Amino acid sequence: MNTYDPVASIYKSVGMEEPFYKLVEQFYAGIEKDELLRPLYPKDLAEPKRNLALFLIQRTGGPGTYSQERGHPRMRARHMPFPIGVKEKDAWMRNMTAALNAVPEFAAHKDVLVEFFENFATFLINKPD
Ligand code: HEM
Repeated sequence: MNTYDPVASIYKSVGMEEPFYKLVEQFYAGIEKDELLRPLYPKDLAEPKRNLALFLIQRTGGPGTYSQERGHPRMRARHMPFPIGVKEKDAWMRNMTAALNAVPEFAAHKDVLVEFFENFATFLINKPD
């Protein structure tokens, strides 16, 4: 198949890991204050930050450290312990969109990333509202 995946070239275009770590810092600063989502995450957010940064670096075409450390992403399976309905998905997207807006390195990729996150988050829905 010959499919073009614009997400897979973002890492090369951004050129370094730092903006991804900035993005997850911003995202989890939002999660800290999110009454709906905060209870789903562990008390210490250090691991979630690292997991998300490494996953995004790998998914956008950067080094494959995520899979070296955690194996195949299996994202739907990994999210099954957390009840995710439309409300949770919308809250996650609000936090991620705010984080994207706060990191200028992603400005040129915002539309592609918002679409990617929206599709991915919808795919993770695992309960009715
Ligand atoms: C739809 C709403 C979502 C909710 C409520 C949610 C919630 C969670 C929670 C509670 C964790 C556990 C924290 C951790 O161990 O890292 C987690 C892990 C993770 N999430 Fe989500 N998530 C959502 C959507 C997404 C999306 C859209 C992505 C990717 C684009 C994503 C990527 C990840 C990754 C990479 C991990 C770490 C998995 C691992 O290696 O164990 N999540 N998520």
